[in-house]
Amino acid sequence: MKKFYNVAILGATGAVGRTMIKVLEERDFPIDQIKLLASPRSAGQELEYYGMKYKVEPVSPEAFEDVDIALFSAGGSTSKQWAPIAVEKGAVVVDNSSAWRMDENVPLVVPEVNPEDVKWHKGIIANPNCSTIQMVVALNPIHKAKKIKRIIVSTYQAVSGAGAKAIKDLEEETRARLEGKYYYPEALPAHIAFNVIPHIDVFQDNLYTKEEMKMVNETRKIMHAPDIKISATCARVPVFNGHSESVTVETEEPITVEEARKLLSEAPGVVVEDDPFNNVYPMPIEVDGKDDVFVGRIREDLAFDNGLSMWVVADNLRKGAATNAVQIAELLIKYDLIKK
Ligand code: A2P
Repeated sequence: MKKFYNVAILGATGAVGRTMIKVLEERDFPIDQIKLLASPRSAGQELEYYGMKYKVEPVSPEAFEDVDIALFSAGGSTSKQWAPIAVEKGAVVVDNSSAWRMDENVPLVVPEVNPEDVKWHKGIIANPNCSTIQMVVALNPIHKAKKIKRIIVSTYQAVSGAGAKAIKDLEEETRARLEGKYYYPEALPAHIAFNVIPHIDVFQDNLYTKEEMKMVNETRKIMHAPDIKISATCARVPVFNGHSESVTVETEEPITVEEARKLLSEAPGVVVEDDPFNNVYPMPIEVDGKDDVFVGRIREDLAFDNGLSMWVVADNLRKGAATNAVQIAELLIKYDLIKK
């Protein structure tokens, strides 16, 4: 008999939380009861699930009573505070923040790459950083066939990755500038309209940002490849939704463009859109609302001997966050890892 589960979303009012509600609906996730949780600021606000209105509740220990699966997207400090409580109440937490990702007791999972890692969870499973998810989905098939030694990546990240306030910042600053007015973003470190900001998350002692180091460390953990050398530059661009990445890899064995196209077109969760002479390549505006990772501009790299370059685009709110989290929850059900 099919089982149904009680699911809570912490951060339901946020950009990712709202997408989680949509993705659960679309994938017909077997839900008995859904609970929408946020901060006390949002208590009483209503959100729709399957056309029905649900009141948002302020998070509390009691809110996790009888919850089987808790999807968290409410930032790192909220997760640090509430994930152990949710686990104590019997829920399995799938957490979208960076709070637990590098904890050696917490699996970090991208279902197309390391699904089996969910099996050793101890209550919390971490959802990787959005830019990391789309990159590893595209690179894992190449790594398995030709062993990647080195990755150089530059990202062009949408404002939705910085949350609902950053989306408002882009909208308001664009409008203000076109009207000759001044606006300074609230959620971003610099002007975003008609600009590019080479700064996401905080700077570290090594002069890389935390976002860039997430791409380095999380990729190694997910791909079980501690020796891959990775260098990342992450930039915020004035795009509402959909992250783009220029990725170059050096492989141990040579790889041709044709081989790469074949590997990628057979890979789960990847769509190859690569016909440059007909202007076919993935772009954020076109991947908005889609769950796959799109790859184009596949070409031999001119700087490395066994080098391959490509352009990787995905909806960061979906595959980079909500969809990946719901896929992890589906794996928990598939492997019968939820106590009922
Ligand atoms: P709220 O809307 O009540 O502030 P985003 O990343 O789009 O800004 O969304 C962040 C989400 O995390 C929102 O749903 C927000 O709720 C929630 N959140 C932020 N801080 C807390 C907190 N301390 N406790 C519970 N939820 C929080």
